[in-house]
Amino acid sequence: MTQSAAIVTGAAGDIGAAIAAKLADDHDIVLLADIDPKAAAATAAKLGSADRFIPVECDVTSENSVAALARRAAQIGTVRTLVNNAGAARAVSLHDTTPEIWRADNALNLEAAFLTFRAVEDQLKASKGSVVNIASVNGMNVFGHPAYSAAKAGLLHFTRLVAVEYGKFGIRSNAVAPGTVKTQAWEIRAAANPNVFEDARRWYPLQRVVDPKDVANAVGFLAGPLAAAITGVCLPVDCGLTAGQAELARTFSQSEHY
Ligand SMILES: NC(=O)c1ccc[n+]([C@@H]2O[C@H](COP(=O)([O-])OP(=O)(O)OC[C@H]3O[C@@H](n4cnc5c(N)ncnc54)[C@H](O)[C@@H]3O)[C@@H](O)[C@H]2O)c1
Repeated sequence: MTQSAAIVTGAAGDIGAAIAAKLADDHDIVLLADIDPKAAAATAAKLGSADRFIPVECDVTSENSVAALARRAAQIGTVRTLVNNAGAARAVSLHDTTPEIWRADNALNLEAAFLTFRAVEDQLKASKGSVVNIASVNGMNVFGHPAYSAAKAGLLHFTRLVAVEYGKFGIRSNAVAPGTVKTQAWEIRAAANPNVFEDARRWYPLQRVVDPKDVANAVGFLAGPLAAAITGVCLPVDCGLTAGQAELARTFSQSEHY
C-alpha cells in the first residue's frame, strides 16, 4: 500500500514544526516544505527519522517550485493532508502598504494555497484527503497588517470554494484561525516592545496567547477521522479573542463580573 503523506508548508517556523510533529501521529511521512532549506533540514532532523520527516526546499509562490514539491511527494507516497501554513505580513497599515507589498502578501498568504492545492489535487482525490489552511484572526476582524489580513480573509473563502467544488471527490477543506502565537514572526515586534505578549494578553478572554501546539492540535483534529463530516469551516484557535473582549463588556455593562 502507498504511504500516506502530509505536506506542511512553512514547516521550519514554530507553528509549521508543531503541525508537522502532530501529523506524524497518523501519517507515514511528513514533507516539510520551506523556502529556507537549511532551516527545514534542521527542523526535520529535530522531529525524527530521515525516512519520516523529509525537508523540501520550496517557494510556495512559485508554480514550478510547487509542482516539484508535488512530484517529490508522489515519488514517496500519496498526499492525504495538505497544510498551507507558510505566511507572513510585511506592512502594518494601509499607509505603509506599497503595491509591491500588497501583491507579495497576497501571493504568499492566498495565491500560494491555490497553487499547492492544484498541484496535489489528484493525490488528494486518490486518498480522499483534506486541506487545512492556516488563516488568522486577522482574516476575520481588523487587527492591523492590512494586505496580509485581506489575503487571509481570501484564504477563508478559498477554503469554502474547495469544500464545495471538491466535496464530491471526498476531499475536505477547513481552516484554522490562530490568534497571537509566540513565534519567530514576532521577533521584531518583541524587540521593539518586550511587553508585547503581556499587552496582548489582556484582550484575550483566556488571558493568555496561543501556543504553536494549540494550533497543531486543531490541525490534527481537522485532518483526522474525527472531523470526517466537517468541511468548509474556520476553527478559531484564539483563546476567545473573536468572541469578544471582557474590558469592553465591562465598559458597556458597568458590571464588575467581566
Ligand atoms: N505567529 C502568529 O501570531 C500567527 C497568528 C495567526 C496566524 N499565523 C499564521 O501561522 C502561519 C505560521 O506562522 P509563524 O508565526 O510560524 O511564522 P514564521 O515566520 O515563524 O514561519 C513561517 C515559515 O514560512 C516560511 N516561508 C516564508 N515564505 C515562504 C515561501 N514563499 N515559501 C515557503 N515557505 C516560506 C519561512 O521560511 C518560515 O519558516 C502563517 O500562515 C501565519 O500567518 C501566525
